[in-house]
Amino acid sequence: MRDAAPTTIYLKDYTPFGYLVDSVHLTFNLAQHATRVTSRIAFRPNPDATDRTFFLHGEELTLIRAAIDGEVISPDISDKGLTAQVPDAPFIWEAEVEIDPGNNTALEGLYMSNGMYCTQCEAEGFRKITYYPDRPDVMSTFTVRINGDLPVLLSNGNPTGSGEGWAEWTDPWPKPAYLFALVAGELVAHPDKFTTRSGRDVELNLWVRPGDEGKCAFGMEALKQSMKWDEDVYSREYDLDVFNIVAVDDFNMGAMENKGLNIFNSSAVLASPETSTDTNFERIEAIIAHEYFHNWTGNRITCRDWFQLCLKEGLTVFRDAQFTSDMRSEPVKRIHDVIDLRARQFPEDNGPLSHPVRPESFQEINNFYTSTVYEKGAEVIGMLKRLVGDDAYAKALDLYFERHDGQACTIEDWLQVFEDTTGRDLSQFKRWYSQSGTPRVKVAEDWADGTYTLTLSQSTNPTPGQSEKLPQVIPVAVGLLGANGDEVRGTEVLELTEAEQSYSFTGLASKPVASILRGFSAPVILEHDHGNAERAFLLAQDTDPFNRWEAGRSLAQDTLLRMITEDAAPNADYLDGLLAVLRDGDLDPAYRALMLGLPTQSELAAALHESGTTPDPLAIWASVETLRQATAQHVQDLLPRLHSEAVIDAPYDPGAAQSGKRALGGAALALTSRLDGGAKAAEEYAKADNMTLQLTALSCLLRARKGEAELAAFYDQWRHDRLVMDKWFALQVSMAAPEATPQTAQSLTEHADFNWKNPNRFRALMGSLAMNHAGFHQTDGAAYQLLADWLIRLDPVNPQTTARMCSAFQTWKRYDADRQDLMRHQLTRISETPNLSRDTTEMVTRILGA
Ligand code: PHE
Ligand code: ZN
Repeated sequence: MRDAAPTTIYLKDYTPFGYLVDSVHLTFNLAQHATRVTSRIAFRPNPDATDRTFFLHGEELTLIRAAIDGEVISPDISDKGLTAQVPDAPFIWEAEVEIDPGNNTALEGLYMSNGMYCTQCEAEGFRKITYYPDRPDVMSTFTVRINGDLPVLLSNGNPTGSGEGWAEWTDPWPKPAYLFALVAGELVAHPDKFTTRSGRDVELNLWVRPGDEGKCAFGMEALKQSMKWDEDVYSREYDLDVFNIVAVDDFNMGAMENKGLNIFNSSAVLASPETSTDTNFERIEAIIAHEYFHNWTGNRITCRDWFQLCLKEGLTVFRDAQFTSDMRSEPVKRIHDVIDLRARQFPEDNGPLSHPVRPESFQEINNFYTSTVYEKGAEVIGMLKRLVGDDAYAKALDLYFERHDGQACTIEDWLQVFEDTTGRDLSQFKRWYSQSGTPRVKVAEDWADGTYTLTLSQSTNPTPGQSEKLPQVIPVAVGLLGANGDEVRGTEVLELTEAEQSYSFTGLASKPVASILRGFSAPVILEHDHGNAERAFLLAQDTDPFNRWEAGRSLAQDTLLRMITEDAAPNADYLDGLLAVLRDGDLDPAYRALMLGLPTQSELAAALHESGTTPDPLAIWASVETLRQATAQHVQDLLPRLHSEAVIDAPYDPGAAQSGKRALGGAALALTSRLDGGAKAAEEYAKADNMTLQLTALSCLLRARKGEAELAAFYDQWRHDRLVMDKWFALQVSMAAPEATPQTAQSLTEHADFNWKNPNRFRALMGSLAMNHAGFHQTDGAAYQLLADWLIRLDPVNPQTTARMCSAFQTWKRYDADRQDLMRHQLTRISETPNLSRDTTEMVTRILGA
């Protein structure tokens, strides 16, 4: 329901709640359309607060009864919550409300998915369960009794009683309401055990629907590895007797770190070789780790208010990235993360949705679970670690856990810990949390008398609400290479703090080649016009694996941009350099596969736009096709060897070694298919015995405009499997030719299996439409209209997912006037829809820049 005038909440307005909560007792009587929730809450006045207004959040609740210290009262009720007169002393609040989980399609609060009850309370969903001060700085222990005739009844904490039709759970750790969870259903467990290093035996369970038992083993292993890793690397132990994970099919996000009861989108936990790709396995491992790591960074230490979201998310993403690097390959993980950052965070940070890592205002907090808060938030932690060093980082983290355990904290608390550990003044560094936009670092070089001088200057374009930008602290890792590729200076971290600064390296025998921003040491755009010969040299010689990859990437980008703007032919330096890297059998196959990647078409559009050229999506698409074809021809003789290197003579394993080989094999198959019209891909499809190979072969066939029979066979083979069917939908839209894309997507919306109320299915189709750059931007605007139609349809059902998908339009001002008109028209049409949700209203308004 839309507010008459949407209210904006500001960070600067924070005040503590007038009351503290000592304990919460909840009783649930489950019924599909009339669940009764009884609460008994011990409040007392908060000595640190001045405002004693007793306001409890509550939305979409029917109040049956409320009482204070046993006396029935009649509170003032609005559509946001209630207010009541309360004693100026400790008191007991009791309430009974009725809710309707069976009609909760927004998937926030208590809802149903395939006959199972489950909850999602972050950020502000608990207020749809009962009246409560639904804010993260109000923490309490919870005891929960669930009454319902379902076999499995779960909540947070430890089980403290159960019988026929009921179960009781007690969570001894004080927590905010957003970490509350309840699950009830006909579920089966995949059980295991873990003993913490101090000897606590923990029962582990992964709960799934009957039929999914075979997809649990990998997630469970990942959980145990995560528990061990957090002990080894951060000295963090688990703190309850049980740890439960539940898989649900209908979920707006990836997963949720509820205390002791993580709830996962089934796509983020269920895996088997037959149904999941290597990429799925890696993502699942990372998300399991992420949610588990939240137990300390998020749960034991939580956020004071939602503006501090990056306090838990940036840190936890950083930790899960460290975990993945340790489990797999550090350079490969770093390259994957930078690819994702550029594909998702850079467009956000350089468009109308740009906001600081710690936003200062919002209308709907659900709109700020963004790549900026998460991924740029993690980059900020990485920079901090790089600046203070590994030892100081470890000490600061120990102090953070010791000082703030059990508290709801701010970014100021976090930075104070680092200042106290290192004696460093972090006030300038703090701009990373308040200043939005991606800094650009320009490189100028000078060489004279054995001295190499590097001059770095920084600037950030204006972003919404921030026209003036101040210099930030940018760690720039630099190494110098000699003509033969030797490192004449090892990696050194330069601290760029001024608008412009110079750094001299003396006593050099000859002019070095600089390798700048090694390991992507800061989330910036590096502007370095060093020419393709030097890029080719770095591609061949750089000792930093990230920058070696980066050199190939910038060569590829340069050649693509010249093909588009100057009608140039594919650059020979790029093709030769690539061939040499691919030939190098000592290099990790996963790394070689990454070398074959190209900048996304959307990134190319951004680069053109920034250099003052209006991007033409079809020309961009054509340049990529031409370069791919040229690459295939150039490396043709090597392809058989690459295919043989990818052959695996062992049972399927999703680990780094095998998945790297499959990635290289897949990249080689894509090139081969450009030469043989898909003949080899058809063979590979026929013999594929895991989803990675099957999907790779099928995508090569579709790209070659073949594979109709395989697509139909795939459907028949997998129509019973929800997660595989998501892939079937996504693949067809992703692989469609530009001119066929809108129609392909449109026909698929009419398919019987397009269950659009399921967020995974909706995103599989509509998300792929938005990601198919040339298809989405067809000149007639058909794709814009199709997406807008569906967003308008989904909004009343699921505002969160609708709002998130509006970001497909965030780059609309990059394009030509006709496309801009078409997109503005659709955005306006969405914004003018009667009763549009607060979520979508805020997004569309920001994108339009009104
Ligand atoms: N806190 C969750 C995570 O980072 C994400 C999430 C946010 C899930 C809001 C649901 C709702 O893992
Ligand atoms: Zn998280």
